Amino acid sequence: MRIPRSVREADVAGKVVLVRSDLNVPLENGAVADDTRIRASLPTLRLLLDEGAAAIHVCSHLGRPKGVDDAYRMAPVETRLRELLPDDRIELLENTRFNPGETKNDEGFARELANGCDLYVDDAFGSAHRAHSSTEAVARLLPAYAGLLLEEELRNLGRLLGDVERPFVLVSGGAKVEDKLGVLQHLGGRADTVLIGGKMAEQLRVDNPLGFEAVLPVDVVGAAEFEADAESGVFPVADLPEGWLGLDIGPETRSLFAHELAGAKTIFWNGPMGVFEWPPFAEGTKAVAEAVAANHGAFSVVGGADSVRALNELGLADRISWVSTGGGASLELLEGKELPGVAVIPS
Ligand code: 3PG
Ligand code: MG
Repeated sequence: MRIPRSVREADVAGKVVLVRSDLNVPLENGAVADDTRIRASLPTLRLLLDEGAAAIHVCSHLGRPKGVDDAYRMAPVETRLRELLPDDRIELLENTRFNPGETKNDEGFARELANGCDLYVDDAFGSAHRAHSSTEAVARLLPAYAGLLLEEELRNLGRLLGDVERPFVLVSGGAKVEDKLGVLQHLGGRADTVLIGGKMAEQLRVDNPLGFEAVLPVDVVGAAEFEADAESGVFPVADLPEGWLGLDIGPETRSLFAHELAGAKTIFWNGPMGVFEWPPFAEGTKAVAEAVAANHGAFSVVGGADSVRALNELGLADRISWVSTGGGASLELLEGKELPGVAVIPS
């Protein structure tokens, strides 16, 4: 894994620095609902402040607005950022996606961002798979460096692509095989055991395009309809009643997966085992989260918004070796792709 040159090597004293962070956080009632990504962006900002930067222009996208949209203003993010790191030298720019040039990687918008700045620090790992003005074009206009979070993400995720300690167990879930196919093929082929839960297990049972055998659920929590309070019960996979839906892995599968995870030396987990937002179908995802967290001897990495949310809700995130702030970005990296926002920063 190539790690681009670090912000640690930059001479920032007295300089105006443009920082691209990924502050794309969930909002609820006009406030930040989860500040994980804001906190993860602080070490780079603190370093720049400590090294005497004159001013720091922080930019990020928020959501997927089509043009200027009051529901996606950065104000709530700015409020939280200022609480966590009150310093007048930091200025948070408005949502980069308010400018139609951003997602087109437009050089004109990149020039606007770069205007008045001496150097560029990219710390937005979660957006590094996007070739946008604020993640790609701008890095060609200013001396560009990798922020501390970006570096750490590349180091930790990159470890999974190198010589891993074995057994290497990959556990994956979610609704669609298509979304995970690249990762499953690239990383799954290198793993000793691949455990699959979620709706995609059903797809794989019918047609397995992976090129290797995965461990699929033996039992499921079935529901009569797709509702949080639907009639439900545990069934061996083959005995799910006609018309019922498998909405979680069953208890036998949970033990099987937990046993495999307990013996692992390297773990990557992405994607929930069931519809974990609904308590009757949350046990499978919980069991996996607990099994990954309980294995202190393993190097464990978790990526993807749903799995990370499950860990946070269970208070287990600090027992994981690396919890990635990237969803799509972590998957693309682990598919073996070069991320545009990383490729553009020199070594
Ligand atoms: C994410 O949350 O996955 C990143 O911030 C990228 O956002 P996007 O998928 O809207 O480009
Ligand atoms: Mg995304």
